Amino acid sequence: MKTIQSNIKKAKKYLDNNDCIAVPTETVYGLAGNAYSNIAVKKIFKLKKRPSNNPLIVHYYNINKLKNDCNINENFKKLYKRFSPGPITYVLSLKKNCKISKFVTNKQKSLAVRFPKHPLFKKLLKNLDYPLAAPSANISTKLSSVQASDVKEEFGSKVRYILNGGKCNIGVESTIINLTNKPTLLRYGGLEISRIEKILKKKISININSKKKIAPGQFPLHYSPGVPLRVNVKKSKSNEAFVLIKKRNINSKNYYYLSKKNNLNEAAKNLYSILRKIKKDGYKMIAVEKIPNIGIGKTINDRLNRASNY
Ligand code: TXA
Ligand code: MG
Repeated sequence: MKTIQSNIKKAKKYLDNNDCIAVPTETVYGLAGNAYSNIAVKKIFKLKKRPSNNPLIVHYYNINKLKNDCNINENFKKLYKRFSPGPITYVLSLKKNCKISKFVTNKQKSLAVRFPKHPLFKKLLKNLDYPLAAPSANISTKLSSVQASDVKEEFGSKVRYILNGGKCNIGVESTIINLTNKPTLLRYGGLEISRIEKILKKKISININSKKKIAPGQFPLHYSPGVPLRVNVKKSKSNEAFVLIKKRNINSKNYYYLSKKNNLNEAAKNLYSILRKIKKDGYKMIAVEKIPNIGIGKTINDRLNRASNY
């Protein structure tokens, strides 16, 4: 308990000082800085090597703290009540005189907001008088981090502090819904779309590969382990790592299982760390067997398809 308090205090000190630090969330680790500070936000873009036209998600403790910055609508209220805190990000319209740094949104009029569930991150947010802009803690287009050691691998000592909250429970990024207009899915993520449709009592249109590039996470190459990857493979080549979800009778050195029990949630949780491990083990090519395209399997397939554009 004492260490938790002192780690939160340390994290707050860096953030108050306009530094960015890594924070644990239930989806993936974030690279966080004061969303009201131009200095802090510019540091995030620089560290991540992120194009300045790719806006950031801002993380809030709760709806009360959000009300100063965004206009709140009925669809948001319904979804917030059911799913937040949790793995869903809402795109809302920004209030005219809000304090959000213009670098967060690249001067757009909408803001992506999220209410994370990880207890350490929640505690930290509760202790701050500003929300935290936090993209995933990885170099742009690379694999997201799901544990403190991944963040170290991505940034070395350039990230001054990592608030260590263990391995992320969900392991893939949040689901993003645009609510500024008719609800639209912008990114598959940790929360299944059917659950969102149930609450809104309607089908949601899907716009995950927008030509207008509403969310630059929609760019073709993303979530890349840095080596070529191919999907829907029945039989791997001997020099490829083979990523599997269904247990085989024979075992081979190049087999990497996403799940012990053919479970899609477990597979999502392990996805990024297994791809990282394969790279570390020295493979120059990755083959992945067909992943069922249901529930969170849709998110896994979305990430694998983008990673396959290497
Ligand atoms: O789970 C998550 O969402 C993690 C954790 C750290 O919260 N964050 C995350 O952030 O995945 P990032 O920056 O890696 O991905 C955010 C995506 C990007 O594709 C960005 O283009 C999109 O959200 N985005 C941000 N602001 C937006 C906006 N105003 N309208 C549409 N898309 C937006
Ligand atoms: Mg990202």
